Amino acid sequence: MMKQQRKTEVLFGWVLAFWLSSVVNSESKVELRTSAEVKAQCDQNVALQCDIISSRPLKIILFSWVDSREMKELCVVNATGVFPSPGVLCDNTNNRLTLTLTRVMPSIQSNYVCKLRSNLSITAASTTVTLQECLRTSEHKVFQNESKVECQFFGVYPEGRVHWFLGSENITESASTESQQDEEGLFNIRSTLPTQAGTEPYNCSLWTPSSGTYSSHKLLPYSRGEDRISSGTRTRSRLLWVFILVGLIIIT
Ligand SMILES: *[C@@H]1O[C@H](CO)[C@@H](O)[C@H](O)[C@H]1NC(C)=O
Ligand SMILES: *[C@@H]1O[C@H](CO)[C@@H](O)[C@H](O)[C@H]1NC(C)=O
Ligand SMILES: *[C@@H]1O[C@H](CO)[C@@H](O)[C@H](O)[C@H]1NC(C)=O
Ligand SMILES: *[C@@H]1O[C@H](CO)[C@@H](O)[C@H](O)[C@H]1NC(C)=O
Ligand SMILES: *[C@@H]1O[C@H](CO)[C@@H](O)[C@H](O)[C@H]1NC(C)=O
Repeated sequence: MMKQQRKTEVLFGWVLAFWLSSVVNSESKVELRTSAEVKAQCDQNVALQCDIISSRPLKIILFSWVDSREMKELCVVNATGVFPSPGVLCDNTNNRLTLTLTRVMPSIQSNYVCKLRSNLSITAASTTVTLQECLRTSEHKVFQNESKVECQFFGVYPEGRVHWFLGSENITESASTESQQDEEGLFNIRSTLPTQAGTEPYNCSLWTPSSGTYSSHKLLPYSRGEDRISSGTRTRSRLLWVFILVGLIIIT
């Protein structure tokens, strides 16, 4: 709690410093251009760009991308060169500093601040990164022997809920669902539903409360054991007829 407060104070100090310097140096017209918001996709790379817009030539003293939540410098450009911190890529060409976050996970959601200290002014701009819905894979199983059906969803973010339907009937209450968050911040969800003799398939859906949408649904055909056996016998008797016909043709 104390740490959080301290971070907020430091951040506020920075914001104030940038605001004051922008007022004092408003005639120098140095601006940083960033996207206000970037939506990232799980497991993908995301690039944040920061462009220096200046009407006059300037000399870069320090140009950087900072994670404001962690108070960590991710890309630093100074007189010596470009210095990326581990796990990120940095590129500085034509007054554009690009920070690339690789294989993103929920933990990268933060506010990223681009800072410039030049011989003309001190400026900053920021980009908020949020993660879009993630779903890596899903598995659906029918256990004829145990009279149950099961749905599993892996790498889900934000946390979802499993809803079950039989036709238009909501049978979610009969299911048992467990959810676990892995070390990367993604959820693995497993839901099991006891089955009854029915003709309709079970509809297993993944509901994302934060967006109010279904991100995945799958129909699980559940048939009783007898049905499978009867369809097997039908195939076998059809084969028998073929043999009889072939036999007749050979004889004649
Ligand atoms: C800032 O640096 C640039 C490039 O070195 C130079 O052309 C310019 O005169 C400098 N401006 C000031 C105000 O020092
Ligand atoms: C530039 O930044 C790097 C990394 O932060 C640092 O090691 C180096 O001393 C800096 N160089 C100058 C001239 O400030
Ligand atoms: C039912 O079958 C599954 C494989 O399809 C097996 O893993 C499970 O142990 C079986 N359960 C029983 C009670 O035989
Ligand atoms: C289905 O039932 C679940 C659990 O009772 C509930 O949270 C959900 O809103 C229901 N969905 C629909 C579409 O009726
Ligand atoms: C399964 O249920 C979901 C959620 O209610 C619905 O959007 C979807 O159309 C259903 N699928 C089928 C084939 O009934």
